[in-house]
Amino acid sequence: DASAQAVGKREAGYRAADMVADGMVVGLGTGSTVFFAMERLAARIREGLVITGIPTSFQTAIRARGCGIPLATLNDYPVIDLAIDGADQVDPGFALIKGRGAAQTQEKCVAFAAKSLVIVADPSKLTRKLDAVVPIEVLSSAYVPVIRYLKTIGGVPVLREGIKKDGPVITDNGNMVIDCGFGTIGDPTALDIHLSSIPGVVTCGLFTTFADKTTVVVGDSNGCQVL
Ligand code: A5P
Repeated sequence: DASAQAVGKREAGYRAADMVADGMVVGLGTGSTVFFAMERLAARIREGLVITGIPTSFQTAIRARGCGIPLATLNDYPVIDLAIDGADQVDPGFALIKGRGAAQTQEKCVAFAAKSLVIVADPSKLTRKLDAVVPIEVLSSAYVPVIRYLKTIGGVPVLREGIKKDGPVITDNGNMVIDCGFGTIGDPTALDIHLSSIPGVVTCGLFTTFADKTTVVVGDSNGCQVL
């Protein structure tokens, strides 16, 4: 249930925050699980830990400022010691689907720049095969041809609409988001490369190239498992 899931997310977030060492540049992902990691990092900072956080969204930057985590940008620190981020789905080879919060573009840039990537999750995120919709950030000037093309390759694309705003969701980068269903994804790497090559696509939410530097921390009510 929801409260057990929240306990798991907190366990995972706290464990990831405890992997951060003094002086590190730390990528700060987006979402509710990362928020727990930031809560714990803020407590460690109050006890003397010195870090620089690189946020991946307006939401994370706002939260980090609120809890006293010093921030800089990827342009100031193009090499990140450790990035902590959530995921929407994780497969056994550590291929990921991300972007429920429409933050996957900056998250992918930070993951790419990171020496190591710690994915924090509750057990509901683990899946044998990726089968969730793939969030695709797209230039607003090209969403129609991208949607048209996604249909020709068997996708079921839907332009994401706002909840507290009429009309399409506009990302932190000023673009739109298409959520595209592909059923069970047989070859996530090939699909990642294919989607990323479509003109007008900024970033797709498949993360398939970071597995060898990825650690997955799964939290539940009994504690954490580090995969
Ligand atoms: C943001 O766009 C996503 O990539 C998040 O990292 C993902 O949705 C995880 O969110 P939760 O930790 O809230 O499940």
